[in-house]
Amino acid sequence: MDNFRFHIPTEVIFGRGVEDEVGAVAAKYGTRALLVYGQGSVVRSGLLDRVKASLEKAAIAVEAFGGAQPNPTLTHAEEGVQKALSFGADIIIAVGGGSAIDTAKGIAHGAANPEHPLWSLWTKQVPLTKSLPVGAVLTMPAAGSEMSDSAVLTNTDLGRKAGINTPFNRCRFAVMNPAYGATLPPYQLAAGVTDIMMHTMERYFIPDARCDLTDEIAEGLLRTVIKNGATVVADPSDYDAMAEIFWASSLSHNNLTECGRGKDFSVHKLGHPLSARFGVTHGASLAAVWGAWAEELYRDCPARFARYARSVWGVDEADDLSAAKEGIEKTVGFFRSIGMPVTLGELNVGVTADDLRQLSLDATMNDTLRLSRIRPLDAAATEKIYRRALS
Ligand code: NZQ
Ligand code: ZN
Repeated sequence: MDNFRFHIPTEVIFGRGVEDEVGAVAAKYGTRALLVYGQGSVVRSGLLDRVKASLEKAAIAVEAFGGAQPNPTLTHAEEGVQKALSFGADIIIAVGGGSAIDTAKGIAHGAANPEHPLWSLWTKQVPLTKSLPVGAVLTMPAAGSEMSDSAVLTNTDLGRKAGINTPFNRCRFAVMNPAYGATLPPYQLAAGVTDIMMHTMERYFIPDARCDLTDEIAEGLLRTVIKNGATVVADPSDYDAMAEIFWASSLSHNNLTECGRGKDFSVHKLGHPLSARFGVTHGASLAAVWGAWAEELYRDCPARFARYARSVWGVDEADDLSAAKEGIEKTVGFFRSIGMPVTLGELNVGVTADDLRQLSLDATMNDTLRLSRIRPLDAAATEKIYRRALS
């Protein structure tokens, strides 16, 4: 087991009706709240008004800033920074999914450091040494941003989707009422289920370190998401199944499943260029490449893939290579069964063989970054995976 640090400062308030508690918890951190939301689902559900009322009851002044889009942009976050500054916000609260939360995190960093361009903080050309407190009222189980130390924005000028990991990204509180998941479209839910699984799998397929407890937590989480994920995609009004998925979303990406092992996020690095250049929904970008990624790497560590197949999918096969292959097939089959694309072609966004070199250069930062701790993948190996994923 490798050395690790584990510190999660996020207060979780979970269950039916908890949105009415936002004011009480936010009052610990601020008196002027900028509410950040997306394209309007929280207006239609009435959640935004309930959150506003709860904040005002706690004597917190409120200003709203909507318009975060899926794969949120740097430009929009920069607009939010100006709004936060002119309002004098001392706390930023997201109401929505990962896109609203990541925008809120960007606004918090930018508003606390107005003398620096947000992108220079985001890319660590300027060290981030302070930020404003951020809270989240979650409506969608997927990104795990409500407890994660990361945030992702797209710089549309550069065609680059980039994340930043920093303790300043940890929300002070996450308010989660799974009942709000009932209005999610099946495709978004399926993409969310895929993303949740992937956040644990990106920490699981790391060879060598022995971590029995972390493995058991990861495998239990994956089994829970597979079982309840299929249920919520079929019936998003199933509260108990949705509650399992909401909770799994937070635990899958708060570092719990990497203790003693670490992570590499190689599949995410393959997915982000597809979102940046083709606007692909995040979870779908991962489903479209995972099978090709696994096919490329499972022979390098068959025992790890075989353990996954047996523990998560109940594969009953003594030979490691055969078990590993069956586990991969079952995973891809599951993604397909919940309506996810499992090839680049199925994304239906027009990716062709001519795009693969550029995507590989994007994923490897012009061939300077090596993906995967199973085997370092350069741009050529990355292109091979994209090619395998084409159809
Ligand atoms: O914008 P609105 O109108 O709210 O609609 C959203 C959006 O269209 C809708 N939605 C959300 N909750 C809903 C709902 N519709 C009906 N009922 C509800 N209860 O769903 C759509 C997708 O929302 P979005 O916030 O984009 O989804 P998600 O939570 O998957 O976030 C995706 C973003 O998070 C990033 C992704 O890259 C992507 O940009 N990630 C952030 C991470 C982090 N900060 O730790 C980690 C992840 O790996 C991921 O990269
Ligand atoms: Zn993700």
